[in-house]
Amino acid sequence: MTHNMPLSPAAPSGEPMRASPAPLVGPSAPTSTSATPKMAKSPPPGRLVTDAPMRMFHALFGLSFCGAYITADSEYWRLVHVVLGYTLAGMLAFRLVYGLVGPRPARLSTLWRKSSGTWAWLQTVKAALSQGGSWQTVAWRQGPTLLMAASLTSLLMVVLPLTLSGYGTFHEWGGDVGVEVFESLREFFGNTALTLVMAHLALLAGQSFWRKKNLALPMLTGRIEGKGPDLVASNRVWLAALLLLSVLGYWGWEFLASWV
Ligand code: HEM
Repeated sequence: MTHNMPLSPAAPSGEPMRASPAPLVGPSAPTSTSATPKMAKSPPPGRLVTDAPMRMFHALFGLSFCGAYITADSEYWRLVHVVLGYTLAGMLAFRLVYGLVGPRPARLSTLWRKSSGTWAWLQTVKAALSQGGSWQTVAWRQGPTLLMAASLTSLLMVVLPLTLSGYGTFHEWGGDVGVEVFESLREFFGNTALTLVMAHLALLAGQSFWRKKNLALPMLTGRIEGKGPDLVASNRVWLAALLLLSVLGYWGWEFLASWV
């Protein structure tokens, strides 16, 4: 067994790595002598496709939306709702900036390019449905990817009118009539956003099922299976941490201010 194991350069010839001193220091260093060299050094499997700031943005955006939606009609949770609404707007601002200066997979132009074929694709479906149309002219495999990109682009676009109408309602812009109008707009954009989120999750589940692959994973781990170069050169954990700290700091500040 020992002859097939990879050896440490420092290990005496013929001795397994296990017997040599652990080469790593720090929290990830193996603490037991049973740690194998593979655990210690080998890079994570797969390719890095979604960096840490995008994953952090996604988590904060999703949580803020869900929290804001759940607390939307409660007087008791009003402040939490408003704070989560502002957080959502802040996340949109981050996404827009990162979409301009971030790595290629995070670029807004990439998202736009992916969704821009959706209209043409829907036209082929419409043509197939019409008399004399043929289903063979529809590129079925492209459909879910295009619809996913279109629903996500729309979701990002809906956040601005949603938070603005929420702001208008909260600050009672335009008196009684204004509040009524803003309230209706807020409800409309809120329901539109919820529909888009549902579409996002349904498409994700459907595609994962058909392709027999968990397509949610890249948003959690940042990586996809397979060989090839990473799509993002750096994971930028520091930026993700900064984003999280900013949001936590803002929540803490709002919390303290509500006590004064
Ligand atoms: C368990 C829940 C969720 C999972 C597993 C998930 C997973 C994913 C994945 C894999 C993508 C990348 C899709 C692609 O590039 O084709 C994505 C993108 C996105 N998701 Fe989710 N998602 C979840 C919930 C949510 C929720 C609740 C929201 C919003 C309220 C949301 C908003 C977004 C947005 C805005 C993007 C686009 C990111 C960008 O490129 O700007 N997601 N999500």
